[in-house]
Amino acid sequence: MADGGEHSSIGRQSAALTEEHVAQFLDRGYVVVGDAYPEALRAELAAAVRRDLPPWEQAQASASLPDDRVGRDQFPYAQQILNRFIVDPQLLGFVRRALQTDHIHFRYAHNWVRYPLVGATVKASSVHRDHGNNSLLPPNDDVRYGQVSCWYFPEAVADDQAPMLIVPKEYGADVARGVRLVVPAGTLMLFNTQLWHSATPFRATTGQRYSITRIYGRADHYWEGVGFITSLGSNQYFREFIGGLTATERGVFRFPPPGHPYYTPEALAALEVQYPSWNARGEYGLVATEQPDPPPLSRFPLPAE
Ligand SMILES: [Fe+2]
Repeated sequence: MADGGEHSSIGRQSAALTEEHVAQFLDRGYVVVGDAYPEALRAELAAAVRRDLPPWEQAQASASLPDDRVGRDQFPYAQQILNRFIVDPQLLGFVRRALQTDHIHFRYAHNWVRYPLVGATVKASSVHRDHGNNSLLPPNDDVRYGQVSCWYFPEAVADDQAPMLIVPKEYGADVARGVRLVVPAGTLMLFNTQLWHSATPFRATTGQRYSITRIYGRADHYWEGVGFITSLGSNQYFREFIGGLTATERGVFRFPPPGHPYYTPEALAALEVQYPSWNARGEYGLVATEQPDPPPLSRFPLPAE
């Protein structure tokens, strides 16, 4: 069931990201942020993911338990809070700073749950970079060629619950110096997909590990994309989500800015049908219906509170 995108908490309760986090990302290729969102929002996100991906106690009795013990759910989501998470203003601000451009694109989103490997047939995970499997850009250390992959863990990850392994930039592919992401609930980890990283086995016999992942890249690498969104034009949840965004937010999903020649009166009329409330704010030059102004995109540096 959809939960009404614009009423979601995202935006009012944005991520606690700072210039220091950006500096750490640029220096080490990744940064770990504890208590990234207010507790109420963490709990809301955790509950939303659990609704789509059942915990182990329910999943183990299910006929649809995945053979590899990883439950996958990808964008777009019926629960609009999970779509709105992609356009969290602070997160987008971080990505712009990290990729050194104002023009960024959404690449991909997935929520996963990893389960105990009881009775599973699983291949061993290998350490890899994401070039080749989801990028055509060269696998070097130029930060502009990377993608920012944001992993939010709404629930705690114990050492035996398949913590992700990240090798800090300075250690290259030296897995022995990798960092296992054993983290408290509410931790956000942002890394450049140029880093070597790996899944690790789920050794516990109970419990589960949830993750909420969103990936972004530079807009000037227009040919990139980890599974593209043009197949979603008729998807109800995508249409609701896009209809509720501002023009600036839609740019992250590759829609041209207002004023682009694409936006003829005919195109705008068709877009209004496809994405309800498309021009409700009057951003595309026609008469607006009454709508409250959206919150502005935050820019660094963050205002003092
Ligand atoms: Fe990967």
